[in-house]
Amino acid sequence: MIPVAIPDLGGNEEKYVLEALSSTWISSTGAFLDRFEQEFAPLCDSRFGLAVCNGTAALHLAMLTLDVGPGDEVLVPSLTYVATANAVRYVGATPVFVDVEPSTWCIDPSLIESAITPRTKGIIAVHLYGHPADVDRINQIAAANDLWVVEDAAEAPLAEYKGRRVGSLSSIATFSFFGNKVLTSGEGGAVTLSDETLLQKARTIRGQGVDPHRRYYFPVIGHNFRLTNIAAAILCAQIERAETILAQRQAVFDRYESLLANAPGIGFQPVAAWAKRSPWLFCLTVDADTYGHTRDELAAHLLENGVDTRPFFYPLHKLPPYEAKGANKVDLPNTDLLAGSGMNLPTYASLEPAQIEKICTLIRDFSR
Ligand SMILES: Cc1ncc(COP(=O)(O)O)c(C=O)c1O
Repeated sequence: MIPVAIPDLGGNEEKYVLEALSSTWISSTGAFLDRFEQEFAPLCDSRFGLAVCNGTAALHLAMLTLDVGPGDEVLVPSLTYVATANAVRYVGATPVFVDVEPSTWCIDPSLIESAITPRTKGIIAVHLYGHPADVDRINQIAAANDLWVVEDAAEAPLAEYKGRRVGSLSSIATFSFFGNKVLTSGEGGAVTLSDETLLQKARTIRGQGVDPHRRYYFPVIGHNFRLTNIAAAILCAQIERAETILAQRQAVFDRYESLLANAPGIGFQPVAAWAKRSPWLFCLTVDADTYGHTRDELAAHLLENGVDTRPFFYPLHKLPPYEAKGANKVDLPNTDLLAGSGMNLPTYASLEPAQIEKICTLIRDFSR
């Protein structure tokens, strides 16, 4: 079976984990955590980085740091991983779902204005499948309406928007280092930001709300969103090879795109002129009329032949917890179309050219 993802742990990961173990610093303090935070921020063109235990906690921390609470509304795309909207709900606020634009598959800036109400506090711009959202346009609307912007960059580390790295384009950005991500520590996450006041607040909330100058005194209610020094050891090794990891994944993308070029009914992720993608999971769309089979039929065919795939995210506004609150009353045609026709193909450094050829031949030959 060819899986969708295999982490690339071929550098100093093992060595650094053993170093962390032998140092006995295995909890949420240690040299690897300090090093990771110092190195990750500049990698994202940002001033500060905070390590957290996963990308969901990073989003939750962003909401708490920005004082989002009951009665507030936050604009989010419907085509994203469920954690983006769940983080809004964790703090008692309401996610308001906005459609994505066909040119980026990210939140459509032209639809934001009409979704704003007196309760709207901010916008979460998700850099979907490694492609940056059109942040300048989003920031302009946000500034005009006194809203904050958070980048959910879980799927897009090192992606670039007009020459600037994601993670530096808004008030707070969040990242995930889950096992299938571009950079990974198994479970892990980070927040990047450049405002010192927000940094102090986020750090306090991440660490149970403890006063930085008075031990065991808790002026606010915080959370335990900390990452371990062992996980940070893995991340330090990943950062050393970040450019190589990206280049290897990009080579997989290039091979898919050349072998599937002009295949009837098969489409690729669009890349805006101003964007440099982070090559996360290769994306394919299936136009069933032209291809002759639906996305799900193709996925089943690939699975029968030993190739695992992933359907695109299910529209969040149609998931039970959100539907129950009336979120499905909006019409989000681009989200529905992509969610029903898109799939991710296996993408990892050790995926061999012969395996990519096998996958592409299966896709081409199944068309009728
Ligand atoms: C867009 C997006 N946001 C948030 C997350 C949550 O990250 P994690 O799984 O590390 O909690 C993910 C990934 O899983 C994601 O793809």
